[in-house]
Amino acid sequence: MSSTWIGVLLLVATVVVQGQDPGSVQTPTAFTKGQTTNLHLTKGEIIDFDKRITEVGATFGINSTFICQTPGLYAFTYYGLTEQDWELWVEMYKNDELIASIYGYTYADYADAGNAAIVHLDAGDKVYLKAHDDYDQTLYGQGNEVYTTFTGELLYADNVELDAVNAYGAVGFSGVMTMNASISDGSAVIYDKVITNLGNGYDATTGTFTAPVEGTYVFHFHALSHSDEEAWLELFHNSQYVVASYGYTVGSYADAGNSVLLHLKKGDTVKVKARPGTDVKLYGDSDEYYTTFSGALLSPTLHGSGHNSQQEIAFSVGLTHNEASTNGPKVVFDRVYVNLGQALNVNTGVFTAPVSGIYAFHYHVLAQQGKEAWVELYHNYKYINSLYGHTSGSYGPGGNSATLELVAGDTVFLDIQHHDSFLYGGGDEVYSTFSGYLLAPTASHHPVVG
Ligand SMILES: *[C@@H]1O[C@H](CO)[C@@H](O)[C@H](O)[C@H]1NC(C)=O
Ligand SMILES: *[C@@H]1O[C@H](CO)[C@@H](O)[C@H](O)[C@H]1NC(C)=O
Repeated sequence: MSSTWIGVLLLVATVVVQGQDPGSVQTPTAFTKGQTTNLHLTKGEIIDFDKRITEVGATFGINSTFICQTPGLYAFTYYGLTEQDWELWVEMYKNDELIASIYGYTYADYADAGNAAIVHLDAGDKVYLKAHDDYDQTLYGQGNEVYTTFTGELLYADNVELDAVNAYGAVGFSGVMTMNASISDGSAVIYDKVITNLGNGYDATTGTFTAPVEGTYVFHFHALSHSDEEAWLELFHNSQYVVASYGYTVGSYADAGNSVLLHLKKGDTVKVKARPGTDVKLYGDSDEYYTTFSGALLSPTLHGSGHNSQQEIAFSVGLTHNEASTNGPKVVFDRVYVNLGQALNVNTGVFTAPVSGIYAFHYHVLAQQGKEAWVELYHNYKYINSLYGHTSGSYGPGGNSATLELVAGDTVFLDIQHHDSFLYGGGDEVYSTFSGYLLAPTASHHPVVG
């Protein structure tokens, strides 16, 4: 090729890159894998899921190992349900680095566990789920009972034009607790090891996240109690109670978590504290990361830089009263944290996508004492995945996530009509939540005006 042609090509390439709005540079990447049969794992095995629920721009290597193509900030969530009377012990790795662990076991019962991590990935980095090296295990799954899932979302790509990871205000953190903690005075949980701290919002000495910029943020927190102890945690926005998680299992360790979206002003704080008046005993070790706290700013391009190319669509709601399937087929939440774009109908519990795009959903519940909660996520009338919460003699936590590719007008909701379900909630006991947000709009089926 002649040097003139190379010069012309370079010129064209430069013009194309400079002509792009930094807010639109990202290549959507999102996936959710699920398991539709019982899955027996031998020690150290990388999980190979049998169902692709969503796969947009995602590449996989050995078994279900995600391989990053687009450098940027990613969120990963995973959930598992044991087969009856089995243990589950699954770890999430970024390359060779442990980033989260889950453990579940309930005598003569099924046990639900989940965790999350927010990490920055470079091209070629891998994220995967692995059975712990010491345990063979069996996870439960059926065609219409998908509890065991693995979800990854590109929150936003690095900005190649600005040549910096967070030149436009990207914020994301993940902290994990590597020590055992016994908290009886209602103080904050200290996640002492920092996995990610883009934007430097998280302080590992106090366990506090301080918003570096105003915007809508997503948070996830998970914990494992010591055997026969409680994991009862509450997330606070400044001094205001937001949501909680509760786990207690007779004769075993208990896993519980929650997620929420909040609109924060610059300088607002978010932290996770132990329930006052309760002895909370959390499990942590240098190579066991059950107790985690992570969060990220959604849609940073909407804040500050003026590149306002995309409408912000995000909702997060919670339940402040007991709810049962006898009251109706869908879960209708009564406390609204965020409903940007008003896409969630708070009277029916149904989300309707205002624009075509890739969306992420997270849901959690706590079953009433001794009772069951079976909650199913639907896309229009198509079953996606579920949670099952039941712990003999105690309250049963459960959770799940999915990314979905929606066409404008598609609906997403939580359904409890197929089984008897009893969800627990109170004014300052919000364990059951439903959150969702637009990750990236996709080419519309009708012209976009504006
Ligand atoms: C991949 O999954 C298969 C089962 O589907 C398992 O036998 C194999 O050991 C796994 N590979 C790795 C590297 O873990
Ligand atoms: C946490 O407690 C468990 C069980 O008592 C123990 O095996 C483990 O070593 C402890 N971890 C640390 C970091 O002390």
